[in-house]
Amino acid sequence: MSSARKVYVTRLVPQTGIDILKPECDLSFWESDEAIPQDELLKNVKGIDGLFCMLTDNINKDVIDAAGPNLKVIATMSVGYEHIDLVECKKRGIVVANTPNVSTDSVAELTVSLLLLTSRRLLEGVRAVKNGEWGLWKPMWLLGTELTQRTVGILGLGRIGYGVARRLRPFGVRKIIYHDVVCVSYASDIGADFVSFDELVKQSDFICICCNLTAQTRHKFNKDAFKMMKKSAILINSGRGGVVNHDDLHEALVNGEITAAGIDVTEPEPLPASHPLVSIPNCIVLPHMGSNTWESRNSMSSTAAKNILAVFHKEKPMGEVN
Ligand code: DGY
Repeated sequence: MSSARKVYVTRLVPQTGIDILKPECDLSFWESDEAIPQDELLKNVKGIDGLFCMLTDNINKDVIDAAGPNLKVIATMSVGYEHIDLVECKKRGIVVANTPNVSTDSVAELTVSLLLLTSRRLLEGVRAVKNGEWGLWKPMWLLGTELTQRTVGILGLGRIGYGVARRLRPFGVRKIIYHDVVCVSYASDIGADFVSFDELVKQSDFICICCNLTAQTRHKFNKDAFKMMKKSAILINSGRGGVVNHDDLHEALVNGEITAAGIDVTEPEPLPASHPLVSIPNCIVLPHMGSNTWESRNSMSSTAAKNILAVFHKEKPMGEVN
């Protein structure tokens, strides 16, 4: 009988992680690129020692109960871990680990891309060409906003927020301000000033949401926040959808309380194609693509695998969150 530790992987993931786990573990998988249904998850986790999961899996008390007392580690192939019941894991001494660092560059690049896509109205341009609406050059057509001499506000100056700020500096922005739970020492490297949340929303021409979803950040961008923002402001969200109240965002965009929004994360996900935010021209909705690069996904898979082995070897995983 094999004494290899049992690890369940809730999706088809890049081979990088599998190659790390295979020599030591008894692996089984949800053999699909689609999310595992909750009833299948409950069935398949029985008796496992380690769980390799995704941000779409709801790792609640029921799943932890179904896994049973051998479960030592839950490694999510994501930075976000709001889908895991940390309280329940803590009670039972289950280590929870995420994949910090490895998607910082991909998400920061995506955030800057989305900002430029939105502020320069590029998709409206593409659509106009496709629809045969491109006439002779017009001086007043599809005008956007430049980053030069503007104030950029960042909610959450963690690794990704810092990466966004660093990439935006060379565009000649006038000022970078940020709000977070604490002032961070490295903010001075990019000349970013800490401000209150109210000041962030009042002063910024562009706001990038780069924070986690927590009880403190849930629906932080709501009616009240949108009313404080400049009418010319552009909102970018690559953090978590739940930080923004989407009904309030729609109202703010339609009533001209803010100019435009680019969102890579939504609430819910997927956002139905019939959602009003999808069809208004001043909102760009992407399907949560922040870390969609070969580099990030390979590293996310190997990091999650290494986190599992670290716990089995009684070492500290790279991304321990609890
Ligand atoms: C994460 O890692 O949490 C990202 O949202 C995935 O793109």
